[in-house]
Amino acid sequence: MATSSLSTTRVLNSNLAKKIMSADEAAALIRSGDQVGMSGFTGSGYPKAVPIELARHIADANFRGKKFQVSVFTGASTGPELDGALAMAGGIHLRLPYQSDPETRKRINAGEMEYMDIHLSHVAQFVEYGFLGKMDVALIEVAAVLEDGRLIPSSSLGNNKTWIDQAERVILEVNSWQPAALEGMHDIYYGLQAPPNRGPIPLTHTGERIGSPYLEVPPDKVAAIVLTDSPDRNSAFKAPDQASKSIAGHILEFLNWEVQKGRMPKNLLPLQSGVGNIANAVLFGLEEGPFENLTSYTEVIQDGMIRLLKSGKLVSASATAFSLGPEMLTEVNANMASYRDRIVLRPQEISNHPEIIRRLGVIAMNGMIEADIYGNVNSTHVMGSRIQNGIGGSGDFARNGYLSIFMAPSIAQKGTISTIVPMVSHVDHTEHDVQVVVTEQGLADLRGLSPRQRAHLIIEKCSNPDYKPQLLDYLNRAERLSYGKHTPHLMTESLGWHNRYLRSGNMKPREEN
Ligand code: COA
Repeated sequence: MATSSLSTTRVLNSNLAKKIMSADEAAALIRSGDQVGMSGFTGSGYPKAVPIELARHIADANFRGKKFQVSVFTGASTGPELDGALAMAGGIHLRLPYQSDPETRKRINAGEMEYMDIHLSHVAQFVEYGFLGKMDVALIEVAAVLEDGRLIPSSSLGNNKTWIDQAERVILEVNSWQPAALEGMHDIYYGLQAPPNRGPIPLTHTGERIGSPYLEVPPDKVAAIVLTDSPDRNSAFKAPDQASKSIAGHILEFLNWEVQKGRMPKNLLPLQSGVGNIANAVLFGLEEGPFENLTSYTEVIQDGMIRLLKSGKLVSASATAFSLGPEMLTEVNANMASYRDRIVLRPQEISNHPEIIRRLGVIAMNGMIEADIYGNVNSTHVMGSRIQNGIGGSGDFARNGYLSIFMAPSIAQKGTISTIVPMVSHVDHTEHDVQVVVTEQGLADLRGLSPRQRAHLIIEKCSNPDYKPQLLDYLNRAERLSYGKHTPHLMTESLGWHNRYLRSGNMKPREEN
């Protein structure tokens, strides 16, 4: 490992070192209309200097009356220096996949920016298959460039391998804020061929390494190297509130039951834990729970996951990115080497690959905006039309996991709306991909139940007492009056459910308040 020589310079290859330039000069290599594949996943490992300069170039061009926009493909969400700055400049024509930036969200919801929300496991292969056009530039943050030109990735991998492979030219940001001790933590599989030549991926347990710790880039593709020293976004997690703790409690009780029933081993099966505070609270709950020797096969390593590793409850974690709060980040960065044998970071086409998720039998636990009484889940749209973030990897894990759990508090928007509704206002996960729905009120195990049985159970176990009578009344009338009795619905009424809240005036998006 080259860690010791990296204390003086992060670009050890002398030929590539000649390509070091300012962020401003590097940004000038990006042209209007380019499709740019950028690194970054859940606020980690994204480029932090060039996007800001690019946004400045875009703003200048727009000021001079020249339209300048690029399409931005990433791993997932980034930070204000990337999504925030480019959206603010009006510089993004098309954005994909997952995002969570307030400015970007505002522009998408105002109809000013195209946004394509696709399963995270699909992104790399869609580009490789040519479905999304040509990749012009790859703009990738790395921790270092080695003597032989290989790259030590930074705190996320996302689609970096694919962007580098597919792009015409590559711009690297070498960020010395990222610990050099990240070297050896990544596992980049270079064996995935396009059909008809695709073979099995030889990964059979969470901690297994099947690839290289380094990204490879043909040196002549590298158009620029920019040196940075900037932290990841690292937003703090909220301390778990009572609703999150109750949700976590229901899930733990359920998992315990599954072990007692012999449907899962004592150390469970690999855990996938979604984004957000509730997912983090479930991990906190596991810390106090009875399970030992846990493993995880997931997308992001959050604070709760690190706590489980520290306590010894979790023995190995596989993901594509870190997503840590500030305190945990300081701790992890200072002790990165000690986590190297327990954490593996993989490209998202592997961390989210259906083949592996199905083989390992992953327990998928994801947040939702709403579920309907039949178990269809909306993860992305508030009131059916306003995007919140995106589907992320929830579909990859929900469809292919051993068990698929969706969770949310039973009410949202200060109690003005029930998250259990007659019919979801947007479908991300169909009833066929959802086995368990949990709110702080309780847990509905939907396995083996018909639609009507599911509906009664979800209302009974998960709905808030303030909304239970309305939901039951709807179901009872639908059972009597519906055109078909298999999945009873009163169509005008189910579609009108959300309209009442829209008309009430309570549903103003946060940025418009
Ligand atoms: N009706 C109306 N608004 C709702 C709502 C509902 N049923 N449910 C949530 N909201 C609103 C909240 O009030 C909040 O509004 P605000 O931004 O104006 O405050 C906003 O939606 C976000 O809700 P919150 O409870 O803070 O979300 P969260 O942090 O628990 O995340 C998801 C929940 C669904 C948004 C999040 O899990 C997500 O993006 N999931 C999709 C991607 C995913 O699952 N990735 C993991 C795969 S590894």
